[in-house]
Amino acid sequence: MARGLFITFEGPEGAGKTTQAHLLGEELRRVGHEVQVTREPGGDPLAESIRALLQNPELALVPRAELLLFLAARAQHVERVIRPALEDGKIVLCDRFADSTVAYQSYGAGLLLESVHQLNHFATSGLEPDLTLLLDLDVSLGLQRQDDWNRMELRGVEFHRRVRAGFLALAKEHPKRIRVLDASRPVPEVARDIWACVEALLRERS
Ligand code: TMP
Repeated sequence: MARGLFITFEGPEGAGKTTQAHLLGEELRRVGHEVQVTREPGGDPLAESIRALLQNPELALVPRAELLLFLAARAQHVERVIRPALEDGKIVLCDRFADSTVAYQSYGAGLLLESVHQLNHFATSGLEPDLTLLLDLDVSLGLQRQDDWNRMELRGVEFHRRVRAGFLALAKEHPKRIRVLDASRPVPEVARDIWACVEALLRERS
């Protein structure tokens, strides 16, 4: 492989992205691939510090400031972690990426879609995933599966419904890149479908 493969996991809260990214990582390593599992916001010391700011429920971030923090973390992560790993021929599995910004900051928080797309493009310097696995889930079910991120979970259920609709709209716009998977099913079933998508992509690439 001249260049690695960039696979992202997206979806509303509680969809099981983190678990699935790690399971896929293990499976890919088992069959001999070099894999880097990473996440957004984060994946690099500076980006992880930005994550801590974004997670703090006491900071009353306005939506534009929040957007720019997510993007600052992404620019750093792309330049320092993702591109170098891809250049080394690794398979990069990233828990959330630019689609989350469209879904949360535009569909959810109401920032202009066009501006979010442009700024995303600037932050990623045009890097796009080869495959995006969208783990789709009913919003109330997802919010019951709480994790350690609390500021976003403080937002109302309507916010999260718009986020989910945003992800589904993105999937319609990019049917080749984004695969929608029903994440309400048991973990091993979802993992099997993910493996089928990834195997097909690897076959296509070889
Ligand atoms: P997670 O680590 O549980 O996926 O949480 C990350 C939170 O940050 C989640 O609520 C989604 C949110 N988020 C955005 O709002 N915009 C973004 O661009 C990214 C990457 C995450």
